Amino acid sequence: MALSFEEFRELMPVAERFVYFNHAGTGPLPTSTVKVLAEFCKRQSETGEVPYAEAEEKVEEARKRVADLLHLPASHIAFTKNTSAGVQTAIGSLEWQPGDNVVLMKDDFPTVTYPFLLMLPDVEKRWVKSEDLVKDPQALLRLVDERTRCVAVSWVHFLTGRRFDVAAICRFCRERGVFTVIDAIQGVGVLDLDWSEIGADIVCSHAAKWLLSPQGSGFMAVRPESLERMKPYGLGWLSAEWKEFNDIFSMKPLKPDASRFEESTKSYLSIYGLNASVRLFLDAGMGAIEARVRKLGVRLRAGLAAHGFEVLTPPENERSAGMVTAHKPGTCTGSIHAWLRAGNMVCALRENLLRIAPHYYNTEDEVDRFVERAAAPEAAGVKPSECKT
Ligand SMILES: Cc1ncc(COP(=O)(O)O)c(C=O)c1O
Repeated sequence: MALSFEEFRELMPVAERFVYFNHAGTGPLPTSTVKVLAEFCKRQSETGEVPYAEAEEKVEEARKRVADLLHLPASHIAFTKNTSAGVQTAIGSLEWQPGDNVVLMKDDFPTVTYPFLLMLPDVEKRWVKSEDLVKDPQALLRLVDERTRCVAVSWVHFLTGRRFDVAAICRFCRERGVFTVIDAIQGVGVLDLDWSEIGADIVCSHAAKWLLSPQGSGFMAVRPESLERMKPYGLGWLSAEWKEFNDIFSMKPLKPDASRFEESTKSYLSIYGLNASVRLFLDAGMGAIEARVRKLGVRLRAGLAAHGFEVLTPPENERSAGMVTAHKPGTCTGSIHAWLRAGNMVCALRENLLRIAPHYYNTEDEVDRFVERAAAPEAAGVKPSECKT
């Protein structure tokens, strides 16, 4: 039976003390996940180890769950420690030639841009602005030419919540042999997208935001066709198939699928935690989660707009996800943020904007109380000229 939002909420002690609307920042852990983490630690503490075969079985369970979430085969999934790992894998495994270029988003989160800037200083960067890309994928596609090796963008913008047409971008790039990397962190866990229809070469995400999983748990999805185009990168002894560890010295064959990128000893603790959290998303159903987050978002937008806030996140479903970004012109956003925080209402302050990100287990009442406090005269107590943020 599907996990209702009330049942989900029972698993979220954070909701007892806070109106927690910062899922685009850090996801609180459900009690069911905490229990699994505690059991794992206790066993390792009391018995010395969780046996390898048993831990690997759990990894496979987690792999299947992440694959189900993305509507992909399990063989496409590799566990990583964060989103950046997927971007770095693309950079390291492509055959960069002099004269190549890469197309990036100018105001993307640094996870996507920094690795290209720092690891490939000599490769030409071509930039599209998110405000142009949200209106039309052509804004990016026009920058692609025969020397474009890779396009790397976020699915959902970390600040404005703008959602981009990754289907159009990936289709266009696939037809031209251009490698695509999609940072999915601000969409996965809130939007229900069938990634098998998108065909991105690499989809990568940390699970510690909307997926309510431990920090340091992440994954990337790599298509088998893409694997064939990638030179060996980031591989290690556990990229090979090991049946047991008695015979160490005979060379083992490379794993045929994406799991080859799990190159050595994993953080089983993180993967156990991710496994427990992702289970809740599958039990609730991603369709129900997306529908409820959208409903809360509509209420939030309307409430904020009624109190003079300007909402930057586009209203259309195909151009937005779970977060709602807003500010009140003529007021100090930092002081509104601090006022909310003092009332145990948590959202993020980024670039002098409030980034508000409610989740499935939040309630309409929480949305109304949040709006009421954000709009209270005390919230804007500091004059914009005295604003320190
Ligand atoms: C769009 C986006 N990508 C990536 C990250 C984080 O990247 P990583 O998992 O590599 O720390 C964030 C937020 O921290 C983000 O908003």
